[in-house]
Amino acid sequence: MVDDLKGALSFSVGDTHNGSRRGTVKLNRGSFSTPIFMPVGTRGTIKAAIANDIAAIGFEVILGNTYHLMLRPGVEVIDALGGLGRFSGWKRSMLTDSGGFQVMSLGATFSDGGATFRSIYDGSIHDVTPEKAVWLQEMIGADIAMVLDVCTNLPASRDEIKRAMDLTHSWALRARFAKHRQDQAQFGIVQGGSEVDLRSESAKFISDVGFEGIALGGLAVGESRDDMLRAIDAVVPHLPPDKPRYLMGVGDPIGVVEAIARGIDMFDCVAPSRVARHGVAMTFSGKMHMRNQKYVRDESPIEPGCPCVACANFPRALIRHLVSVGEPTGGSLLTLHNLTFMYRLIEGSRNAISTKTLGEYIKSIYAAWGN
Ligand code: GUN
Ligand code: ZN
Repeated sequence: MVDDLKGALSFSVGDTHNGSRRGTVKLNRGSFSTPIFMPVGTRGTIKAAIANDIAAIGFEVILGNTYHLMLRPGVEVIDALGGLGRFSGWKRSMLTDSGGFQVMSLGATFSDGGATFRSIYDGSIHDVTPEKAVWLQEMIGADIAMVLDVCTNLPASRDEIKRAMDLTHSWALRARFAKHRQDQAQFGIVQGGSEVDLRSESAKFISDVGFEGIALGGLAVGESRDDMLRAIDAVVPHLPPDKPRYLMGVGDPIGVVEAIARGIDMFDCVAPSRVARHGVAMTFSGKMHMRNQKYVRDESPIEPGCPCVACANFPRALIRHLVSVGEPTGGSLLTLHNLTFMYRLIEGSRNAISTKTLGEYIKSIYAAWGN
């Protein structure tokens, strides 16, 4: 059991095994168990799925993106409709990303003050500052808000990585100071690219600010998995043990279980739902390309034993047909399957922590997913 909620978030650690841990995060709108995977609903909805179906899988938290929501429909509209949860029909917890990552991938320019970028919708110019990112997310009404940060694609020069990290640090302080809502938790973001000494420095700096949780950003952005794991190893020892740790944008099964082994508690990634819309199923035996001719008359479910709505009701042959002819329902069914796989992957990791068998579990994921 967790303590009664005093601030916006409380976290308690349960079973631990080597560096890995299970825990419970308590928020105003509900609590959730960690490790957790959070599906990404960029524009207020998981693409090709409805909120009820996502809740039925068991997910307790989904993500929204400030960048997309501030442009369309606009935070005033969301606020007027009672916040993103009510607007989108999602009754459980929500986390919003600050927009730092999106503006980086869409070619923003950064100054000490903030970031300037062009709308993907109509080319109009927008500014976002650390303070404005706080306000935008308070309007959207998420339970957990992320600070505005500066992320660099890798590889990048040490100078570039250091500049992004320094800016991220000064923006973290500004964001903490700009916070008004007592019912919203705020997470800081560690940067530092693939430079392990900068990663440690950033971990210490961000930990000292006093956020309710700490994220590791700037990973899965072009570096090797080994580099990513080295960065995590450089960060985790400097983080407060009693705060949740969130690895942003990582959703490949091996990356997830390796990070769980290193003490990461939270994950999000668009990949499981994105590859679903491209006809790819994720399973405990690896990836399946559902367009493949070999499934034309295949009567078995995508993954025997999977409790998802696709596997419970339809043969591979139908899924293959739907994705081959471009029926949107094929992408929807695969989205629900892949998210169910991610849910089960995490559930399996939690159980393995409790039974102290995470090492064997990770080996089984390598056996299915290769290197
Ligand atoms: N999502 C994935 N990586 C990042 C990151 O570095 N920063 C933010 N804000 N979001 C992310
Ligand atoms: Zn399934």
